[in-house]
Amino acid sequence: MLQGKKIVLGITGGIAAYKAAALCSGLVKQGADVHVIMTRSASKFITELTLQTLSRNPVHIDTFDERDPEVVTHINLADLADLVLIAPATANTIAKMAHGLADDMLSSTLLATMAPIMVAPAMNVHMYQHPAVVQNMNTLVSRGVLMIEPGSGMLACGYVGKGRLEEPETIIRVVQDFFQAQAHRNQLSQALAGKKVTVTAGATVERIDPVRFITNDSSGKMGIAIAKSARDMGASVRLIAGTVQVPLPEGIETVRVQSAQDMYEAVLGEWNSTDIMVQTAAVADYRPRTVYDTKMKKKDEGLTLELEKTVDILESLGQRKQGQFLIGFAAETNDVAEHAMGKLKRKNCDLLVANDVTTVGAGFGTDTNVVQIYDADGLVVDLPLMSKDDVAIQLLSVVAKRLNGVSTS
Ligand code: CTP
Repeated sequence: MLQGKKIVLGITGGIAAYKAAALCSGLVKQGADVHVIMTRSASKFITELTLQTLSRNPVHIDTFDERDPEVVTHINLADLADLVLIAPATANTIAKMAHGLADDMLSSTLLATMAPIMVAPAMNVHMYQHPAVVQNMNTLVSRGVLMIEPGSGMLACGYVGKGRLEEPETIIRVVQDFFQAQAHRNQLSQALAGKKVTVTAGATVERIDPVRFITNDSSGKMGIAIAKSARDMGASVRLIAGTVQVPLPEGIETVRVQSAQDMYEAVLGEWNSTDIMVQTAAVADYRPRTVYDTKMKKKDEGLTLELEKTVDILESLGQRKQGQFLIGFAAETNDVAEHAMGKLKRKNCDLLVANDVTTVGAGFGTDTNVVQIYDADGLVVDLPLMSKDDVAIQLLSVVAKRLNGVSTS
């Protein structure tokens, strides 16, 4: 699973350094090309020769021990790494990383590398809980360093508690998962390359007079999540947003609209150049027949507002489809499958995403959703409760598979 992956394994000076031999051997057995850097203290616990034999590569300790005149070794190691893994990582090395020191081969390489860094700490339980160590680890996490938390148990110093280096097999599994997730992200990042995706989001606003309007509870979160995911999957994205209750994403060209009619016109402006149209917005079905230019005055009797139908944007797009992939949404409170299939057919959608807004965690305003995706043949996938970001990725993965045959699962 780690075939061809170049891993720089940093070993620092704690008793758990002896476990680095099993770790190195396990990584090599999985196909990784392992380059070991040891600190001087680590070499008191385990020999250079052991790691050289297991890794089948030269082991580096001294920054100035330059054996190849063609390269500067710590820069070369920093550049070649797909991952830098420090196991075990002492409190001292963690502190040096947090503060940017570069006084030996390992810390210099760590400063120079652009590769992801994974740290598996090992130390006495009280050291592990020391505020300085906690703060240093938090600093590293905030910079994107991945932590493999130590296990609990009997420590070499005699104490029982947290601080024991995670077992080599577990660390190897974490490394495998990391590369698998990275491969998945890379694949995903190209899944919609070359496609133009237009997404509508949020609620429309239908004016009654200059100070009053009819709208709905849509927050725009689902549509914005789809726009962002489409961008992250390599598409060029247009967002057409009504009122939204979350910040608009940076770096996505966004057209702001008010009414259903405005949204319709904005959508038509993008339609011919769009490959994938996602109609997430909660569009008003009715608008006041008369819009007053001046504020309506209160009268003694009650008020009846006469409403007229707005254009059904999705239905109109469904009628003029010329190769565009059309996705609709449906918020339902009952008979979800039946209503969803009815809307999909009536509006000529390729996919319809339905949710029962009475389900906990689904619908307007929440950060999560519970949806089913339908096509003309019926249910495609029934997704459990998940974040709207994850719903967006799942939905667009189905689209990518249908358009390009690219499987992103
Ligand atoms: N839609 C639209 N234009 C409208 C109303 C709805 O484009 N005037 C789109 C929505 O953006 C959504 C889909 O149609 O993608 C379904 O919206 P929904 O409100 O669930 O369905 P309606 O057709 O309005 O039916 P009903 O309100 O009766 O459930």
